[in-house]
Amino acid sequence: MTENDFIPRPYKVRQQEGSITWQAPSNIALVKYWGKKKGQLPANPSLSFTLEASATTTRISYSPRNTITDDFSFEILLDSVAEPGFRPKIQIFLERVAAYLPFVKDFHFTIDTSNTFPHSSGIASSASGMAALALCLADMERQSVPGMDDVFFGLKASFLARLGSGSATRSIQGPVMHWGEHSGTAGSSDLYAIPYPYELHSVFKGFRDTILLVDQGKKQVSSTLGHGLMKGHPYAAARYEQALAGLDALKGVLASGDLEGFTAIVEQEALSLHAMMMTSRPYFILMKPNTLEIINHIWAFREASGLPVCFTLDAGANVHLLYPREISRQVDAFIKETLVTFCENGKYICDQIGFGAKKM
Ligand code: DP6
Repeated sequence: MTENDFIPRPYKVRQQEGSITWQAPSNIALVKYWGKKKGQLPANPSLSFTLEASATTTRISYSPRNTITDDFSFEILLDSVAEPGFRPKIQIFLERVAAYLPFVKDFHFTIDTSNTFPHSSGIASSASGMAALALCLADMERQSVPGMDDVFFGLKASFLARLGSGSATRSIQGPVMHWGEHSGTAGSSDLYAIPYPYELHSVFKGFRDTILLVDQGKKQVSSTLGHGLMKGHPYAAARYEQALAGLDALKGVLASGDLEGFTAIVEQEALSLHAMMMTSRPYFILMKPNTLEIINHIWAFREASGLPVCFTLDAGANVHLLYPREISRQVDAFIKETLVTFCENGKYICDQIGFGAKKM
């Protein structure tokens, strides 16, 4: 499919006023998207587990405008309280999606959003937030296009979410999502994410992600800025090659349930992402001392217990602890006895692999 396939034909049914609510989950990348091309297209393909508990619920209420101007008309609330800080990102999003949702200037929107995780937890809400908003707008369009099929709806929502935030494109469905053109993945595209089309071993069903909150402050560097630092980065070409090799290797690992292989790819990806940040200009260290404490304790625990626990990181200091559901009891004890000391205010979030967004 091309971008043109997402430009609708003139609508047969005109929308009146109404409201739509969707809940979209966050996701955690195993192979990281880091670096982008023009038009919110990824420099390399990525693969993620959709999460379940960490999610954003967004309700849009819409009414036709009396006078249509060339600008958008919207207000944005976080937990029902006006949040003007979100306006610039939403404005950019609406500008980018307007060609694919030609009705957006015809309505006034009230966008009311809330997260299941605390706003200041250091967990990025852009993936779940942009996915929820994209789903609301795609659903609003679907009401004007009778007969739109579910597969197209999912792709369009993912396409729109991408224009808000790259990682949001992977937050529409689950349990494993692939985004970005990749010769080894049938049906893959830079324009949207698709549910991983190959075998997934049962050990990954119910996989846990405990998010250890090392730093609950605002991110030191926005992801958007971080992606920009890959332009002209001395190691960029090698990094993109590595991501492709990781994806190729992951195919066998996900099918066979080889958790040693899984650990090697996932931890390398996490550290490689941080290595890119440490070696860019300007350079950044996004890990905190407690991030390293946690990583070292995970390695020591894995060595001593032989249990398949591994970690990944996003572009910040928090650590995602990944493990099969079957060993939750032992890992839970390890978290409480050892890791919790390194979490800010002893906080962590228990999450697991999930199945995608839900209409509320
Ligand atoms: C490190 O999707 O937040 O989480 O497209 O600029 O909004 P923008 O960036 P964003 O980048 C996420 C980067 C990452 C890795 C990943 O999720 O693949």
